Amino acid sequence: MKNILFRIVVLTILISSCNSTDQKKAGSKDAEIESRIDDLMAKMTLDEKIGQLNQYTSRWEMTGPAPENVDSMFIYNMIKEGKLGSMLNVTGAYATRNVQKWAIDSSRLGIPLLLAYDVIHGYRTMFPIPLAEAASWDPEVVKLSARVAAIESAASGLHWTFAPMVDIARDARWGRVMEGSGEDPYLGAKMAYARVKGFQGDDLAADNTIAACAKHFAAYGFAEAGRDYNTVDLGERTLQNIVFPPFKACVDAGVATFMNAFNVVDGIPATANAYLQRDILKGDWEFEGFVVSDWNSVGEIITHGTAANKKEAAKLAIKAGSDMDMEGNVYIDALKELVEEGTVEESLIDDAVRRILRVKFQLGLFDDPYKYCNAEREKELILSKEHLDAAREVAKKSIVLLKNESGLLPLAKNNTKIAVIGELAESKDVPLGSWRAQAITNSGVSLLEGIQNAVGSSQVLFEKGPDYTVGERGFAIPVYINNTDLSGLNEAKRAARKSDVVVLALGEDCFQTGEGRSQTDISLKGLQQRLLEEIYSINKNVVVVLMNGRPLEINWMAEHIPSVLETWHLGSEAGNAIADVLFGVYNPSGKLPVSFPRSVGQQPLYYNHLSTGRPFGDPNGAVFWSHYTDESNAPLYPFGYGLSYTTFEYSDLKLSSNEMSESGNIKVAVSVKNTGKFAGEEVVQLYIRDLVGSISRPVKELKGFEKISLTPGESKEVNFTITTKELEFFGASNEWKAEPGEFKLWVGTNSAAGLEAGFVLK
Ligand code: BGC
Repeated sequence: MKNILFRIVVLTILISSCNSTDQKKAGSKDAEIESRIDDLMAKMTLDEKIGQLNQYTSRWEMTGPAPENVDSMFIYNMIKEGKLGSMLNVTGAYATRNVQKWAIDSSRLGIPLLLAYDVIHGYRTMFPIPLAEAASWDPEVVKLSARVAAIESAASGLHWTFAPMVDIARDARWGRVMEGSGEDPYLGAKMAYARVKGFQGDDLAADNTIAACAKHFAAYGFAEAGRDYNTVDLGERTLQNIVFPPFKACVDAGVATFMNAFNVVDGIPATANAYLQRDILKGDWEFEGFVVSDWNSVGEIITHGTAANKKEAAKLAIKAGSDMDMEGNVYIDALKELVEEGTVEESLIDDAVRRILRVKFQLGLFDDPYKYCNAEREKELILSKEHLDAAREVAKKSIVLLKNESGLLPLAKNNTKIAVIGELAESKDVPLGSWRAQAITNSGVSLLEGIQNAVGSSQVLFEKGPDYTVGERGFAIPVYINNTDLSGLNEAKRAARKSDVVVLALGEDCFQTGEGRSQTDISLKGLQQRLLEEIYSINKNVVVVLMNGRPLEINWMAEHIPSVLETWHLGSEAGNAIADVLFGVYNPSGKLPVSFPRSVGQQPLYYNHLSTGRPFGDPNGAVFWSHYTDESNAPLYPFGYGLSYTTFEYSDLKLSSNEMSESGNIKVAVSVKNTGKFAGEEVVQLYIRDLVGSISRPVKELKGFEKISLTPGESKEVNFTITTKELEFFGASNEWKAEPGEFKLWVGTNSAAGLEAGFVLK
């Protein structure tokens, strides 16, 4: 019944964006729009053109370092003079209407503003953080989340989200791991495509769709040592084969905009990087939308030391293809002089303006600049029952069961005395996650509430245990952890003693992850490990509910604790979704989109690594091979890993042929059987290895997956088709192509398991 309801909700939400007969791809040229742009540009002065390239934050919400000029009057004057094309961080139907009205009424040409916001995993109804959603391995689920986020933000006057963040992240120390889809380009591309479709629908001009922004172009996730904003140094083949695919998927989905990145790539700031923005994005991929800089990343070209002043920075950035300057004050201060003295051709400015105006036209802002800000729709849609139901569905599909020894889970609802322990279990705020847009503080369903909603309060004993965090917490300030005050420990132990089972919430505060939150230590912080061990010494029936935004180092837990659920930061309905899984209303089906390390020293750790020249141990025990002397190379939990309350058996892997021609294909079939007692879903994964290539090739690469449902005893055949597309890579000849030779393939339940076969590409 619940599933049917969910489908109805999904259908209604999805159909509401698809009712337009206009199926044009966002980002592509439309003759009528182009001629309207011509007419408008013919009227614009150089100042007004440069104004379109300028973007400021509102002065009441800042998602980066404080701007140069914090006076709101300054902004109003800039709008009036036609010197501002876009704003970020203005939200709500009332405020967006006001500022738009000012732009329309006071400026000479009345060009509407483009209003942007970081709607990363929900606007006010919060969905799981993107990393968690990727754990669903279900593009439809991810699309639904973006769809709801678009509906809410559009109703509150927004036109444009700075999402999806599609940076591949291989290093758990990096705080922004939470914001993307993990370590794999194939999974990342599927999720990226789905998110763009969810935000943009089929018609950008509909009043419930918003423009998306693929960010951060490029390689921001490869910051050295996982330290945010740090240097990135990688070769073109890693860029092409690993970093680019999710960005390319966004272009294929018709994404309206791109954002560049803070980092350098091989010494050149991404914002000043013509290879990335002109050659690849606007050249090879024929992207027709525009590129916005990251927060003052045009200005930071100076701090990177590749420009001496604003004038040089502006010249480098505009020539490299950065169209809009976010909060840098660089274009507005320097471009005019550069054009007037002939250093920058006006045609470059014209191209950037045209791209920005195109998106404004596609959104329908010239037809009705106020169509998005609608106080009634805002009231009706935001935090609606349908949206909260969708958030719960997406949340439960994002949970990964890491361990379940002797079937402790699912818990029986009746006659079970449950101790719920931990500050995170009580928190109504942590589950809302980092990058939480307009989420209302403390508005999430806590784990404790979720359990109480499921079984009532009488059989639940809650104890917070020692405080985890101390003092104020928030998006822009550091989180302080309690390392000394043990108050609450004894009460927690007493509750554990009196109960049949303990549900212990551990992990991270949501503000320990996100931008500017890199860490050198990814183990359980504060007194959490001590709490865990002391509780376990009293009651062995412990279920750990992990809440975190990055892979954690949890070796002791994995060895001793019978049941571990990875629940990330799941959004508004977190507690209810976790309770659905704890009590078996929903059988967990998530799979890890990132490898979990045994030690932070293994970072960066990812399954699709290269072989190295010395991958194998020496049987005589000599040390000369690629390994650590104090830790295994293997992850604790591999990419793609996740259990279910039931078990699945893989058999009968069949290939239609062991040979394939360049234009041919091979059909792969495998039989999967539910051999346990519960109905469940399994993500069947296909991995391929190219044994010999013109460049060293990954030891395994995900090339297909399918999520299936099976009732107990049921079997299904799952099919994949391999063509040269699955085998292509950017090799020594500097082009994408499949190279003939031998391939291995595996079909299985995660990246470290599977039935094996082989074939040859002729
Ligand atoms: C982040 C971007 C974000 C921008 C605007 C920057 O600090 O890197 O991802 O979109 O701020 O808030």
